[in-house]
Amino acid sequence: MKKHLISQLALSAGLAFIAFAAQADDVQGSAKAGAGKVWLCTGCHSIPDYRADYPLVYRVPMIGGQNAGYIAVALSEYKKGERKHPTMRAIAGSLSDQDMADIGEYYAAQTSSSPINPLK
Ligand code: HEC
Repeated sequence: MKKHLISQLALSAGLAFIAFAAQADDVQGSAKAGAGKVWLCTGCHSIPDYRADYPLVYRVPMIGGQNAGYIAVALSEYKKGERKHPTMRAIAGSLSDQDMADIGEYYAAQTSSSPINPLK
């Protein structure tokens, strides 16, 4: 009986994982939707050579023009705690998978001549 219960639990955990993985793959980002979500980010990521979190002094990376998937994965790593920067963790914690995908597409579409956010 006990053994049965354990294999049931293992099976449902496995199914939950598969459902999660399938869902993550389904998320399609939209640069247009992302444009409305980056107001939180531009304060730091628009300023050339900006340094945040005195006295710990981090350089803020330039994310405009980076690969959309890379940006979305980086954000989810902050959210999960696999990346440690405290401000980025707090910010990413409020984003859904859809937000991350949209923001990734938005930044990936930025070039040095983008009119919306010329400094990135
Ligand atoms: C308070 C300043 C600040 C704000 C606001 C902020 N960031 Fe960041 N961001 C940073 C700093 C500093 C780092 C570098 C942290 C590190 O070393 O892990 C960073 C890192 C990143 C990275 C990883 C870049 C790389 O090259 O690996 C991404 C992606 C990112 N931020 C996206 C965003 C997005 C999207 C938003 C808005 C939702 C945002 N950030 C808001 C300061 C900020």
